[in-house]
Amino acid sequence: SITRHYKLNVVMRNMSRLCSTKPIVTINGRFPGPTIYAREDDRMLIKVVNHVKYNITIHWHGVKQLRSGWADGPAYITQCPVQPGQSYVYNFTITGQRGTLFWHAHILWLRATVHGAFVILPKRGVPYPFPKPNHEAVLVLGEWWKSDTEAVINEALSSGLAPNVSDAHTINGYPGPVSNCPSQGGYTLSVAHGKTYMLRVINAALNEELFFKIASHKMTVVEVDATYVKPFETDTIIVAPGQTTNVIVTADQGFGKYMVVASTFMDSPIAIDNVTVTATLHYSGTLASFPTTLTRTPPQNATSVANNFIDSLRSLNSKKHPARVPKNVDHSLLFAVGLGMNPCQSCIVGNGSRVVASINNVTFVMPTTALLQAHFFGIKGVFTTDFPGNPPFVFNYTDTVPPASLATTNGTRLYRLPYNATVQVVLQDTGIIAPENHPLHLHGFNFFAVGKGLGNFNPKKDPKKFNLVDPVERNTIGVPSGGWVAIRFHADNPGVWFLHCHLEVHTTWGLKMAFLVDNGKGPNESLLPPPKDLPKC
Ligand code: C2O
Repeated sequence: SITRHYKLNVVMRNMSRLCSTKPIVTINGRFPGPTIYAREDDRMLIKVVNHVKYNITIHWHGVKQLRSGWADGPAYITQCPVQPGQSYVYNFTITGQRGTLFWHAHILWLRATVHGAFVILPKRGVPYPFPKPNHEAVLVLGEWWKSDTEAVINEALSSGLAPNVSDAHTINGYPGPVSNCPSQGGYTLSVAHGKTYMLRVINAALNEELFFKIASHKMTVVEVDATYVKPFETDTIIVAPGQTTNVIVTADQGFGKYMVVASTFMDSPIAIDNVTVTATLHYSGTLASFPTTLTRTPPQNATSVANNFIDSLRSLNSKKHPARVPKNVDHSLLFAVGLGMNPCQSCIVGNGSRVVASINNVTFVMPTTALLQAHFFGIKGVFTTDFPGNPPFVFNYTDTVPPASLATTNGTRLYRLPYNATVQVVLQDTGIIAPENHPLHLHGFNFFAVGKGLGNFNPKKDPKKFNLVDPVERNTIGVPSGGWVAIRFHADNPGVWFLHCHLEVHTTWGLKMAFLVDNGKGPNESLLPPPKDLPKC
């Protein structure tokens, strides 16, 4: 293992997309930002220097940060932001992980343009558990907004209503031609006939789950969220914000140009948008003027396509990569997740109410001091540890007729876990306002998705059907619209760990909470002390 040094300069840069130009916040002037490479066991020293007017933090999404929560990055959860003109060195070691992850800003809506791939190679000499592909490529799926994203969310917050949607999706920063800007270029991936390619597909978009497909080519899925899965073949994958998927594609079509396409998946009655992003798979030797073989993704509400894909995911669970699924559970929790309405006097157009989101009816309030600091230094009054392990009242969660009161309670409440506890969380979608698929992301851990179903979770019957052998292991999971998903993890990482919906708009509305994991008694079981340059609030 080695120590790798990176420097990320946060700078403004003018970018032209969709036939207009605007300044965006970037890392090193690039959109998406640079790919960070590491190997399992490497130590990372990544210096972030803030040259813009916004506060910033960077999160290494999916990196477990064993005992190094100070480097995790969510603003006001594990650190105070890096203020304009300041810098911070994220110092962490990659332990027991290899695969595709990504990094992104974890404050305000800066993630819209501040993100990039994080590729962890296996230890030297350790092969992939599948035939080594000839080539590898990173495909970052994102969004392009014509307006300033901070203005978009601020407007929504003051009106109490939902924010606008993006103007296009992007693949490696480019939307491809769209109807109101036919000259917009798209990303081109050059391939050679007969070669195999591992595509590292990352959904870095703020608010939309995406279907992804390549004309005339099958994909073999080999990894999700930096964990190996039993390989299977598909023509469409589904990636939620916060998720990554590695697929192997064989360039088996002698010749030509093939459309690569991503579009919204939304298994809810609310239609979001239909903007499709296109890129091109270009066989070497094919003339640029050659016509592209077209394809389309499934319709926006193609829930069965999404479910087929999700249900095909299984941990590899081989001798070398066993699935360590917790068999017994110390803490069994039921989290009702969803949207609601709260009264709001100041909301301009929201008719006296605003959209909020909650877990177990708690709308999480961001503190003004970082929770991890408050915990480590014993600063009182920043949070409480009474987060409810169950919904405060029982109702038919998946009925669209909501319970009597829609109002949620506000609080910075954490759920406390002893070191090494085994935890099961059933994430239950609620139909208040509307059922919707929520990609929930847990910091600090991977979890196993042991069960999933439609309707209300049944604590007597459903656990009997749990898969405790080879469930998929990941860090972000879609809570099915009108249904539930059960996850299990070992709380073997002391610190404060955020759990939130990776649809940025839902996080903003309060669909978030945090676990506080105590230190263990052993020599390597406590949170390390904070670095000297840890930003102050
Ligand atoms: Cu990728 Cu808390 O986020």
